[in-house]
Amino acid sequence: MYLYPLWVRLWHLINALMFLILIVTGLSLQYSSVEYTIIPFNYAVSIHNITGIILAVGYVLYLFANRFTSNGQYYQFPIKGMAGRVWKQARYYAYGIFKNEDAPFPVAIGRKFNPLQKISYVFVMYFFMPIIIITGIGLFFPDLLPDKIFGMLGLHLIDLLHIFMGFILSVFMVVHIYFCTIGSTPLSNFKSMINGWH
Ligand code: HEM
Repeated sequence: MYLYPLWVRLWHLINALMFLILIVTGLSLQYSSVEYTIIPFNYAVSIHNITGIILAVGYVLYLFANRFTSNGQYYQFPIKGMAGRVWKQARYYAYGIFKNEDAPFPVAIGRKFNPLQKISYVFVMYFFMPIIIITGIGLFFPDLLPDKIFGMLGLHLIDLLHIFMGFILSVFMVVHIYFCTIGSTPLSNFKSMINGWH
């Protein structure tokens, strides 16, 4: 089944690369001190800014492509019954898979993602990514931020939100890569993301 069109693969490659660079430079910015810098501060700022801009532009293109091609359909689901479907898939990952049970939602042309993938990709792409990008733009143009938000220093609150989202998305990426190894072979999903075929 041809499930990953070229644009998805290109976007995903750029997104994943930028993400890795953002994590490394972000950690360096967060934990650098005057005596000990992982990456020289000015370099880390510049690289973080440039990769952040590339990721944000890629994200906007992804939004448009997902809206105007059939790939967007994979991100839609009826709310009714979703909790039960997610539970079924989670139970399979935690138990059934070790008992050689059949996958409850095998990949098909109309079903690229199982319910757990679906819900996590929707949260990541339509909730966490916009927050990290918008707060990133706020930190890039700090003069635009209000002085106070909910009685807190505006810059502080936006910074906290940005770092918190960075943490959540980094955890997502680790879990995401682990789940990607659960295919017909440990590498099959990674191959799909290179040649488009499942
Ligand atoms: C080195 C890092 C990464 C690797 C190795 C990786 C690997 C993969 C693989 C193998 C797939 C295909 C299997 C599937 O559909 O679940 C996939 C799909 C996907 N990944 Fe990643 N990923 C990485 C980083 C990320 C990041 C940082 C994000 C988002 C912030 C992300 C979001 C997605 C999405 C949304 C899909 C589904 C795309 C579509 O078909 O519409 N990935 N990834």
